[in-house]
Amino acid sequence: MLGFSFFRCYNVMHMKKFPQGFLWGAATSAHQVEGQNIHNDWWKAEEDHLLKEASRSACKHYELYAQDFAIAQELNHNCHRFSIEWSRIEPEEGNFQASEIEHYRKVITDLKNRGIQPVVTLHHFTNPVWFTQKGGWTKFKLRKYFLRFVDKVVTELAGEVKFWITINEPVVYSSHSYFLGVWPPKERSLFKMVKVTLNLAQAHIQSYRLIHKIYRQKSLASPMVGMAANLQAFEICQPTLKNKLAVYLRDKLYNFYFIDKIWRQRTLDYIGVNYYSRNLADVRDWRISNLLAQTCQYNHHPLPKNSLGWDIYPEGLYKLLIALKKYKIPVMVTENGICTQDDDLKWNYIRQHLEQLHRAIGQGVEVLGYIYWSLIDNFEWAEGFTPRFGLVEIDYRDQKRTIRQSARKLAEVFKNNEI
Ligand code: FCB
Repeated sequence: MLGFSFFRCYNVMHMKKFPQGFLWGAATSAHQVEGQNIHNDWWKAEEDHLLKEASRSACKHYELYAQDFAIAQELNHNCHRFSIEWSRIEPEEGNFQASEIEHYRKVITDLKNRGIQPVVTLHHFTNPVWFTQKGGWTKFKLRKYFLRFVDKVVTELAGEVKFWITINEPVVYSSHSYFLGVWPPKERSLFKMVKVTLNLAQAHIQSYRLIHKIYRQKSLASPMVGMAANLQAFEICQPTLKNKLAVYLRDKLYNFYFIDKIWRQRTLDYIGVNYYSRNLADVRDWRISNLLAQTCQYNHHPLPKNSLGWDIYPEGLYKLLIALKKYKIPVMVTENGICTQDDDLKWNYIRQHLEQLHRAIGQGVEVLGYIYWSLIDNFEWAEGFTPRFGLVEIDYRDQKRTIRQSARKLAEVFKNNEI
């Protein structure tokens, strides 16, 4: 008995509180969950057999969103991140679908009726086919089409949304689609990657200004407009000059270049952080491609891994959040998650990352919320349906949803606002 109460006391003393009003939730993106996004470039590449698997009906979330949000509500989520599919709103150039805007209005209303704050992404990797056929993000002059889409959507939905994310992981998009050649349109050109990145930075800057202008014109309270950056914890394998330089360059180019650029223009109300893993630099010779990409292949500093082989490195989240302090604006964890079939590993991943998040808050980082990737298992881009990131398991044969134990444990954290 004595032992038990001592244990309880010890636990209570070691509970870690999160700030009042903290946002707790999970994320999805349109193409990964909705299904039948037949007018975008991913669908086209899937039809052309350029990818391992096709998204097909995905999780049928376009139809089943209310069922999924009921689960989020049951799990004490008070925010939810999702994306609006540009190719549904504008399947052909200039042909805007009022009914699709209404669909997303219903999605938002459903969330709000459940006490769940929407966090809305405007670009999450996919583009309408017509836009890519004109040259897509490789052409500066085509940016106006994205801005016109933003204008339409935000004008319609401004009253319902406080948190916007303009562009998800611009550097991941430009590198995977235009340099590594693994995502549509599968190009391998350093020049195009740079051009696309610059174009996306301008798209963010102009969208930010446009969204704020719309809110001012409508006399609405100022929104919170950010973007979601994929941040990796770059670390050295052995302390060599090459490795140190590699980490310096990778941090600059992949983590902070884009943020620096848009922050200097004062177009960020908060920084969205998507954090998953570590990147262990192990550069063998002085080739620029090695400096930028070569990682340790020898398991020198082994860590547990997710089912895609990514290192589990919670401390990286802490280090990156501390590094973001210099921008002096709030941060929101807009994605953090693990794909695994081992639900204990999933819970450990989440718990350890929340502990590091709490540690960063203790060091003065202003954090608005934590959004887990993902609410439901989904279509993981070039990896197809095999990786299981969800809090909720999907049986793709019959679209049955099953809540994982890890999700229930996380629900307790959300309810009590503490870990
Ligand atoms: C991020 C993407 C998200 C998802 C996770 C696993 O890079 O933003 O769509 O695929 O990775």
